[in-house]
Amino acid sequence: MNKSWEKEAVVFDEIYEGRGLVGKIPLLGPFIQRGIIERHNRALAFLQACGAQTILDLGCGVGRFAVAAARHGVTVYGYDISAPAIAQAQAAARQAGVSDRCHFLTADLLTVAFPPADAWFDLGCLHYLPDPAQVVQKLTHVPHLFSCLPLKGHWLSPLHYVYRTLLRGQKYLEFSEADIRRLLAAYPNLQIDRSGMVYYVTTVVAV
Ligand SMILES: C[S@@+](CC[C@H](N)C(=O)[O-])C[C@H]1O[C@@H](n2cnc3c(N)ncnc32)[C@H](O)[C@@H]1O
Repeated sequence: MNKSWEKEAVVFDEIYEGRGLVGKIPLLGPFIQRGIIERHNRALAFLQACGAQTILDLGCGVGRFAVAAARHGVTVYGYDISAPAIAQAQAAARQAGVSDRCHFLTADLLTVAFPPADAWFDLGCLHYLPDPAQVVQKLTHVPHLFSCLPLKGHWLSPLHYVYRTLLRGQKYLEFSEADIRRLLAAYPNLQIDRSGMVYYVTTVVAV
C-alpha cells in the first residue's frame, strides 16, 4: 500500500482549479491543468457514449468524476486507497444530492473485489500500481473501459519522474501502444488516442 497517496489524493484535486504547487509553475502548470480537465471531460463524454448505468471509478480521489457521473443518473462504485479522499468524496456526493447512487470505499485496488458493472474508469490511477494487470484481470466481467495512461518516452517524462518519483516517492509506469494492447488483451476492440503526454484508451462504442 502506497502511504504517499494518503494526503496527495486530496491535494491532487487542487490541480483542477489551478491551485496548489502545480498552479504556481508558469506554462507547465496550465498545461497540466488542461490535461486533467481534458481527461475529466473525455471520461464524461465516453460515459454518455457507452450508455453505462453502473460504473467503477478506480482511484476516484475526492470523487469529482464519480459525482459528475452520478449527476447523469449513473450508479458509481468509487475506490481509493486514501481514506481522507473517500471522506471528501462522500461529502461531495451528499452535497450534490447523489449519495444514493454513489458507493465509495477506501480500498486497495489490488485486493478489492469488484461488483458487476457496465464500464470501468481509470482517470490516472492504474499506472501507479506495481502490476496493473492484477487489477485488469479482476475487471474482465465489465464490458467497457476508459483509461488514461502516460506515454512512454514523452519529452516531459524526465520532469514527470522528478516530480512524481523523486519528490513524491510515487513510482509509476509509462506505456507504448503495444504495452496497452498487452495489458488490455481481454478487450480486443480498443480505441487508442494520443493527446499530449498520455494515451486515452476506450472500448469502441457504436455512435
Ligand atoms: C492522480 S490521482 C487521480 C484521482 C482522480 N481519479 C482524478 O482524476 O481526479 C490517483 C488516485 O489513485 C489513488 N490510488 C493510488 N494507488 C491506489 C491503489 N493501490 N488503490 C486504490 N487507489 C489508489 C490515489 O489515492 C489517488 O487518489
